[in-house]
Amino acid sequence: MNDSPTSSLDWHPGTWRKKPAMQQPHYADPERLQSAIERLRRLPPLVTSWEIESLKQQLATVDAGQAFLLQSGDCCESLDDCSTETIVRNLKVLMQMSFVLIYGSMRKIVRVGRFAGQYAKPRSADFETRDGVTLPVFRGDIVNRNGFTAAEREPDPELLLRGYERAALTLNFVRSLIGGGFADLHHPENWELDFPTHSARERDYLDMVHSITRSMQFMETVMSTNFRESYGVEIFSSHEALHLSYEEAQTRKVPRRDGWYNLSTHLPWVGYRTNAIGGAHVEYFRGLENPIGVKVGAATSPEQLRDLCRLLNPNNTPGKMVLIHRFGTDQIANYLPPLIEVVRREKIRAIWSCDPMHGNTYVTEKGIKTRDFTSIYNELVAAFEIHASLGNGLGGVHLEVTGDNVTECVGGATQLAEVDLQRAYKSPVDPRLNYDQAMELAFLMSEKIAPKR
Ligand code: PEP
Ligand code: CO
Repeated sequence: MNDSPTSSLDWHPGTWRKKPAMQQPHYADPERLQSAIERLRRLPPLVTSWEIESLKQQLATVDAGQAFLLQSGDCCESLDDCSTETIVRNLKVLMQMSFVLIYGSMRKIVRVGRFAGQYAKPRSADFETRDGVTLPVFRGDIVNRNGFTAAEREPDPELLLRGYERAALTLNFVRSLIGGGFADLHHPENWELDFPTHSARERDYLDMVHSITRSMQFMETVMSTNFRESYGVEIFSSHEALHLSYEEAQTRKVPRRDGWYNLSTHLPWVGYRTNAIGGAHVEYFRGLENPIGVKVGAATSPEQLRDLCRLLNPNNTPGKMVLIHRFGTDQIANYLPPLIEVVRREKIRAIWSCDPMHGNTYVTEKGIKTRDFTSIYNELVAAFEIHASLGNGLGGVHLEVTGDNVTECVGGATQLAEVDLQRAYKSPVDPRLNYDQAMELAFLMSEKIAPKR
């Protein structure tokens, strides 16, 4: 493996400015933006290069088929939602899903949250019209506000700092919870289920907790040891690195290491709408040492994928690239095989992860954006099968999930219907799986990643 830095002499964190940058907000006062960016630059980083390198190593084990990647969390974090309850609930669902996956599959799970910085959103239109009034579209809480007034929709550079601070608060609390024993297997009461209804999965989950507790007691007795000392739970952060001035401000060199790190998150990813080869986002990403995700879909040609991989992972380092495919359940069978073929043919090292959310969004007759649990599950099953049929392994899954009992996606064990969507629809952008649906999907998935006996 070649350990030379990813970035070349003709790259620095600002070279993206010479390329067309999609999805960037228009700020009325460039000086205020500059002042916010300067202040951001002086703030300490949120993550370290050691953690980033550790994630890269763990992703190399995913690449080798020894572990599975679980990346999940909010579609779009909100500044107001940075609260104890939300952080605990979201952490809990991520931990519980990962335990179900470990228990069912007997594989290591690399946990990556869509959190602590998932604040900027790509949109399909620049403007939104309601009752004859046209305003700039909502682009996420570090850009503008979701309310429909001209003042709220005006991009405000100060929000970049508010987002950075909230990301720091979130990470700080997550780290304390994990370090303080929230994920300690000796205390299953910490990960008790909160099923709103008596889901069919409740029994499965309780059986699993009981079995883990008994096995651990058995092993500790036999080995005269306490697993607490050796059992370290890790959770990494990720977000779509969309707002390039914000990301640039956090892209730094660190002592005694080559290259540049985005120190606002462990795993930044390039969105589907910004993955063009000649575009500013790909230019920015090509210089990073972080492992990176790239969303690909029906509009991504095999040649584009090949070129993206060569550009973004020039040393072909295992664990560096995560290709997150998002086709939709009707499209995956047509579009995924040629992409797998080109990666194999060109001997490209990349982890394949399935995002079964973004290709399955539809709008109900009442105008509500939703996704059907069955389509999500079907796309995931198709992904496992297509990869396996081509001698490849699906290395991970990318989900939009909340620990809250929202009603945003239809279906699942509790059979949410379209009429239920009005009850507790909270997401300002994409519909997320609720707690019940997320746990149901984890159980179904664990059967798919279990070793064949
Ligand atoms: C997202 O992950 O929230 C998103 C916008 O996805 P995509 O870029 O795949 O559309
Ligand atoms: Co989304």
